[in-house]
Amino acid sequence: MCLKSQILILYCIASEVWMAKQLDSSRNFSRGLYRVEDDGSAKWKRLKRSLYQGRSCRVRGCCTGRDDDCSFNIVSRAAICYCDQFCASGSPGPVDCCADYWDVCDHRVAPTRSDEPWPPLTSGCYRAGRYYGEGTTTKDNCNSCKCLQSLWKCSKEICLVRQDLIQHINSGDYGWKAANYTQFWGMTVEEGFKKRLGTFPPSHSLLNMKEGNSLPEEKFPAFFAATYAWPEWIHDPLDQQNCGASWAFSTASVAADRIAIRSDGEITDNLSAQNLISCDTRNQHGCSGGSIDGAWRYLKTHGVVSYACYPSFWKSHLKPSGENHCYVSSEHGKNHTNGPCPNALAESNQLYRCAAHYRVSSKETDIMKEIMDKGPVQAIMKVYEDFFLYKGGIYRHSQKAGSRWKTHSVKLLGWGALTDKNGQKQKFWVAANSWGKSWGENGYFRILRGRNECDVEKLILATLG
Ligand SMILES: *[C@@H]1O[C@H](CO)[C@@H](O)[C@H](O)[C@H]1NC(C)=O
Ligand SMILES: *[C@@H]1O[C@H](CO)[C@@H](O)[C@H](O)[C@H]1NC(C)=O
Ligand SMILES: *[C@@H]1O[C@H](CO)[C@@H](O)[C@H](O)[C@H]1NC(C)=O
Ligand SMILES: *[C@@H]1O[C@H](CO)[C@@H](O)[C@H](O)[C@H]1NC(C)=O
Repeated sequence: MCLKSQILILYCIASEVWMAKQLDSSRNFSRGLYRVEDDGSAKWKRLKRSLYQGRSCRVRGCCTGRDDDCSFNIVSRAAICYCDQFCASGSPGPVDCCADYWDVCDHRVAPTRSDEPWPPLTSGCYRAGRYYGEGTTTKDNCNSCKCLQSLWKCSKEICLVRQDLIQHINSGDYGWKAANYTQFWGMTVEEGFKKRLGTFPPSHSLLNMKEGNSLPEEKFPAFFAATYAWPEWIHDPLDQQNCGASWAFSTASVAADRIAIRSDGEITDNLSAQNLISCDTRNQHGCSGGSIDGAWRYLKTHGVVSYACYPSFWKSHLKPSGENHCYVSSEHGKNHTNGPCPNALAESNQLYRCAAHYRVSSKETDIMKEIMDKGPVQAIMKVYEDFFLYKGGIYRHSQKAGSRWKTHSVKLLGWGALTDKNGQKQKFWVAANSWGKSWGENGYFRILRGRNECDVEKLILATLG
């Protein structure tokens, strides 16, 4: 009886040592860190422990530094795991840690698969200190990753928010700063182009439009902003959200400003971009893009109601195709829509019309004169991926951001100049974007002036209110 059990114990020890040797042969790890280290059976326990994914540190609690008593006894596996900080920093590495150590004890550094020397995990992956089971799918910014055979397999899209690009711009001498935007996080560059822009490249007929008369160089103030010249009459930057309809937002914004200025402040209503998106559908594609030319023609012939009457993204929550449904009907020559406002709380269903649009010359001083005399103008521009990250300063395209671009339209409302740290004079336009007020400089941005940066001076349109 006694002999029998002794043989059994011997057998057990022998097999544990054999097992440990087998595992040991695959990796080196230094000894003497934990007092259990030299004991062959400890390694065997590790293997057993690694198969246990239950609540350990959640039950035991976490400890700082090295604390050999800060351990959890996994009774069902006759193994011990640790919940003190040392379990992750020392050798043999994170394998001593309990499986839920990362979740519960919030360690800053994530062990990667390659840092996992012991024991070989049979399945699952780690990311940011968390364990994920085999076959789990997670998102890494704009890419989706799946844990396959203990390795993350991720799609390889180019993301709109790129930490390397932000760092490159912020450490370089570009004259502007970049930032991470929550609203762009998780989007690919392709999605950014598709959902955040949405102005068709100008047609030939638009580019052939007669430019105004070139004016002689004149003395202009060093700084000008329409918001100072006509306070109360200039409309704030809008937010197109994930709707690729900058064609409608920029047109509605410039038209509203121009109507306010032309009417001497009598009509200062915000115009409904949604009215354009949903109702100006001839050769226009709503949130998938449209032409500013078409938007101006619609404003002249049909007119649009106020924002209050027809707010942005009205009823879009009812169905995904809500943007395609036009909730106002306007007839030629009528000053009011046929029915009430989509927003029943709005009182006036008045339609606002503009005079015909015209092109302003691309000459810097002609654009300045137009803005100073008559108000903000509409400009188209090339948007490269770095533009999305703009947080402040005078924007210019950085070569690092690649050469892919798409057309966007914005509102130019002023200009200025400042001297950079090299003593160079930097001239800029003040422009309003339609990505909300959290973007850029309170929804506005500045861009190099007089150099046709990103083609921003190539096509300037305006209307006489
Ligand atoms: C183990 O460590 C020794 C000495 O540090 C080294 O020579 C040997 O190549 C290592 N073995 C493995 C499998 O890494
Ligand atoms: C950017 O912002 C998102 C959302 O706020 C955040 O989850 C992400 O970690 C940030 N990325 C970087 C690189 O800062
Ligand atoms: C409408 O315009 C006014 C003045 O420009 C502004 O304060 C207000 O926020 C605008 N409303 C919307 C919904 O854009
Ligand atoms: C529309 O408004 C204009 C200008 O206020 C006015 O002259 C015209 O008579 C109005 N038309 C109708 C049909 O009420």
